[in-house]
Amino acid sequence: MLSRNFFRLLVRGAHQTKSAVSFSYIASRKLHKSVCLQKNPQVELTAVRYPEVKRGNYSELTDRHIKFFESILGKDRTLTDPADVEAYNVDWIKMVRGQSRVVLKPKTTEEVSAILKYCNDETLAVCPQGGNTGLVGGSVPVFDEVIISTSLMNQIISLDELSGVLICQAGCVLEALETYLSEHGFIMPLDLGAKGSCHIGGNVSTNAGGIRLLRYGSLHGSVLGVEAVKANGEVIDCLSSLKKDNTGYHLKHLFIGSEGTLGLVTKVAIHCPPSPKAVNVAFLGLNSFDDVLKTSISARRKLGEVLSSCEMLDHVTLDAVTSNLNLRNPIGEHPFYMLLETSGSNGEHDEAKLNAFLESSMSSGEVLDGTVANEPSRIQYLWQLRERVAEGLVHDGYVFKYDISLPLKEFYTIVPKMAERLAGNKKFLRCCGYGHIGDGNLHLNITSKEFDHDLHNLIEPFVFEWTSKLKGSVSAEHGIGFKKTKFIHYSKSDSSLNMMHDIKKLLDPKGILNPYKVLPK
Ligand code: FAD
Ligand code: MLT
Ligand code: ZN
Repeated sequence: MLSRNFFRLLVRGAHQTKSAVSFSYIASRKLHKSVCLQKNPQVELTAVRYPEVKRGNYSELTDRHIKFFESILGKDRTLTDPADVEAYNVDWIKMVRGQSRVVLKPKTTEEVSAILKYCNDETLAVCPQGGNTGLVGGSVPVFDEVIISTSLMNQIISLDELSGVLICQAGCVLEALETYLSEHGFIMPLDLGAKGSCHIGGNVSTNAGGIRLLRYGSLHGSVLGVEAVKANGEVIDCLSSLKKDNTGYHLKHLFIGSEGTLGLVTKVAIHCPPSPKAVNVAFLGLNSFDDVLKTSISARRKLGEVLSSCEMLDHVTLDAVTSNLNLRNPIGEHPFYMLLETSGSNGEHDEAKLNAFLESSMSSGEVLDGTVANEPSRIQYLWQLRERVAEGLVHDGYVFKYDISLPLKEFYTIVPKMAERLAGNKKFLRCCGYGHIGDGNLHLNITSKEFDHDLHNLIEPFVFEWTSKLKGSVSAEHGIGFKKTKFIHYSKSDSSLNMMHDIKKLLDPKGILNPYKVLPK
């Protein structure tokens, strides 16, 4: 059996025999720390940056409205002090900024229902908000929409330890659910870098993907039921906790991934897998994208049912994490890196499979270098190199962020193509690719010190045209939000878009729920 040290030594030996690959655009764009850090940049108002988006014909908020909200929630859960409201107006990535004057913090479905009924009667637009970690500008208002935050709807309702079905309120933080479940021998079927802040209601509303999708599938499969409140305040009870329920239309799916435009999700029933008994993480260095592809395919075949994550990042991406966040690369420098995770019920069996896979990947020269961990702290360290990429990139200043689905054969081509396209632009700092290669989902990110219209115009719509030509999707996991409404047609047919408009009219005839998001004009 291959020992861990042997693996390190052996792959290092293999690496020395390979010639270095030239990645000139990477080398020339490598950042120095002092260039990238920009402290607390003031975020331009969305209404100013995107003047083509006009405010809808909604009522303006008045003291009478505030008094009504206070009568339901009290003063302490009706935030109106601009200093308190500001954080809810700006998204995590600092891409958009709204001008709401009020944040409401209901605790119960009944309170949500009363608020929405009133807003609908008064034609006040609303913006549902969970952990505000969304990456497409959907979670904050565009103009002065009333913000309804689920942050106090954080009660776990039940866990059925026989079936693994968890029922909870929408504002439970993903990591808090993970911690609770671990005490009962279960895990959440989804995991993502934002877990410390994002809410399960936000995850459901965005149909979040993340690093476990490869193993446990999308939320359309693991969410068994939802409770949601429609724009008119009506509570829709689809909170089934059954794995199989074929009675009529599967209405819960309307709320999974509709980004707060069809209803406000108040409760979620979700199927949770048992905690794996053994977890291994391998962090690998590779010479080319071709090798990444070969390795991901052979990982699927050779690791089979124990493979739980298959992620890739290029050298420019890893640099954002090592330079900007001071994390150490545990292996040598390579053009590409992969992070593979196995989770199973029998440590020896999984390890034997992983070792056999690594041995064959090294002898074929597809993997050059690597390290393997099975102790929690080391596993966590290796995962940080992938999970904290979004955070590392934000340190550059502004991030143009794309999450696209592409055929595997063409998965990475857009990255060097885009880098070449942007090479003449002085504002451009970094162009990198990383993502969930096991799910065909690339994250193409371009950074600059600050938002720049010329750079923006060089990237869009080129990136969406490219994706569409390859029959990919303009949003693999982050959604459409505010940022991509103009581009949804690249991935949705006219007939599908018409049906989306029809459904919207049916559930929210006055269009008060998260206007300017998802649906194209
Ligand atoms: P918010 O950002 O608050 O809202 C997102 C959208 O959902 C908005 O349109 C909002 O109006 C709507 N919404 C929120 N709550 C409700 C509700 N209760 N009812 C109706 N509508 C609601 N995403 C992935 O898919 N995969 C990843 O791997 C991933 N990694 C990330 C890593 C980092 C570091 C960050 C910052 C983000 C990441 N994201 C990822 C994006 C984001 O975390 C997810 O989209 C997440 O699901 C959003 O949850 P949230 O509670 O923060 O929702
Ligand atoms: C990820 O996979 O890291 C997330 O989707 C966030 C991002 O795209 O940066
Ligand atoms: Zn992702």
